[in-house]
Amino acid sequence: MRKGASVTDPIALKQFASAVKERFGIETDDPVRAGWEAILGRRQRAVEASSAFQYVAKWLAGQLGPEEDREVAVELSVPETYFFRYPDHFEALGEVVLPSLLKRPGLSRTVRVLSIGCASGDEPYSLAIVLRERGCTGSDWNVVIRGIDVNGAMLSKARQGRYTSWSLRSTSADLRARYFQEVGAREFEIAPEIRSMVDCYESNLLDDDPRIWGPERYDIVFCRNVIIYLCQSAIARLVSKVASALTPGGFFFVGHAENLGHVLAGFAACTAAGCYFHQRVQTALPETSVSSTWSIPESRRVETADRPSALSLSIPHALAEEIAAQRALEEVLELVRQDRPGEGLARLAAMQGDIADRREIRIAKAALLVNAGGVADAETLTTQLLASDPLDAEAWYIRALCRERSGDRVGALDAAERSGRAEPAFALVRLYLGLQWSRRGDRIRARQELGDALRLLGREPEERLLLFGGGFGRNALMDVCRHELERAGKG
Ligand SMILES: C[S@@+](CC[C@H](N)C(=O)[O-])C[C@H]1O[C@@H](n2cnc3c(N)ncnc32)[C@H](O)[C@@H]1O
Repeated sequence: MRKGASVTDPIALKQFASAVKERFGIETDDPVRAGWEAILGRRQRAVEASSAFQYVAKWLAGQLGPEEDREVAVELSVPETYFFRYPDHFEALGEVVLPSLLKRPGLSRTVRVLSIGCASGDEPYSLAIVLRERGCTGSDWNVVIRGIDVNGAMLSKARQGRYTSWSLRSTSADLRARYFQEVGAREFEIAPEIRSMVDCYESNLLDDDPRIWGPERYDIVFCRNVIIYLCQSAIARLVSKVASALTPGGFFFVGHAENLGHVLAGFAACTAAGCYFHQRVQTALPETSVSSTWSIPESRRVETADRPSALSLSIPHALAEEIAAQRALEEVLELVRQDRPGEGLARLAAMQGDIADRREIRIAKAALLVNAGGVADAETLTTQLLASDPLDAEAWYIRALCRERSGDRVGALDAAERSGRAEPAFALVRLYLGLQWSRRGDRIRARQELGDALRLLGREPEERLLLFGGGFGRNALMDVCRHELERAGKG
């Protein structure tokens, strides 16, 4: 059977899905579409079980050992992340949350943060940068930043601390210069003083891992873009664990699309920097010690059911613009995800002023334009983008697509090679180059590029696949690689 091909035992798949839900709290409406059928097939073959059914039975009975849980977790995990994702959260943290926490009597130099679902570390390192920028460092400070994730492979990446420029797309040039060192081909290494502030642990959020959990251990918990994957019972369990692990008055941040209104007993909703987050109410403290000096002032706090529409704080123009651009981009990506790229393009085309001129907006526009047949306009955008950064791998990639669609194969290959040189780990350009060499009959180069593409596609961020994947998802693109590799291997 071909690697990654599906199994067909629907009962085994159902049992696998229910075991996944029980072990990790992760749920999907459609296991086949989510790629779980292929995962089941791969795991069955990896442990040499005679059938999918036998694999699930052994896994459920614990006969495959804890290592199998780890393997399954890596397969299931969707580790999309980047530094300063949702910059409004980090603004609220620096401007409002930290100043209020640091007014606590006797705790003016204590900040303990937990990042749940920290993936490759971008989130806890962003938290460390904010804390350092706010002066929370030095031997007289008690600063703890802990990240947990069930995906051990991502945690190794976090410990390595190396990122591509794509991971830094929401990081200001100033912070990049201060906390990252460019190493190798457009890779950036996190500064040692930031790395040493963060500890990452492989841990399932459902487990009562004593290294992580205990009453009132943290002042701030970030758990963003994790809840969307969880079933209701796992969400309820998580919220109750967070409530108990937070100090009274501590803060809880979840992703923009993650509404916890129905399970958030014991929290009040806060708004600052244009975003919402939650504060554990202080019922655990005696009446007299409920000090308004370190809680979010009432004017900035609202009950969950009563959300205000206005921002509570004024924020600098550059940051406001960055937040607006980020939000707009996420809306556009959501439209693409829903197979409505035309509407996404219309949204981008309607943007005006400084936001429309931002790099990420122009890249998204050029990428959608070239797919929609607007080759000349897309190429004009790439010319502008390359004028400001001649090593912009994405702009070169779009340029390659434009050249190809104009019938200029030589120009297309040249642009794709420049893209690949600018960012060797850009999976989609590796795939493109593999297909080009295959078409030209150069099997050696084709195999090399396609092999790299297959390896890199597994970790290419979803947003990038949406923009540059030509309408194909990760699994479909990996299948293309495998198919072409098979062809390139023959003869
Ligand atoms: C989409 S990423 C979110 C990364 C980061 N928090 C952010 O918002 O950018 C979701 C992460 O949650 C992790 N995750 C999912 N279920 C988990 C569980 N039961 N325990 C711990 N981590 C889990 C995944 O492995 C993945 O790395």
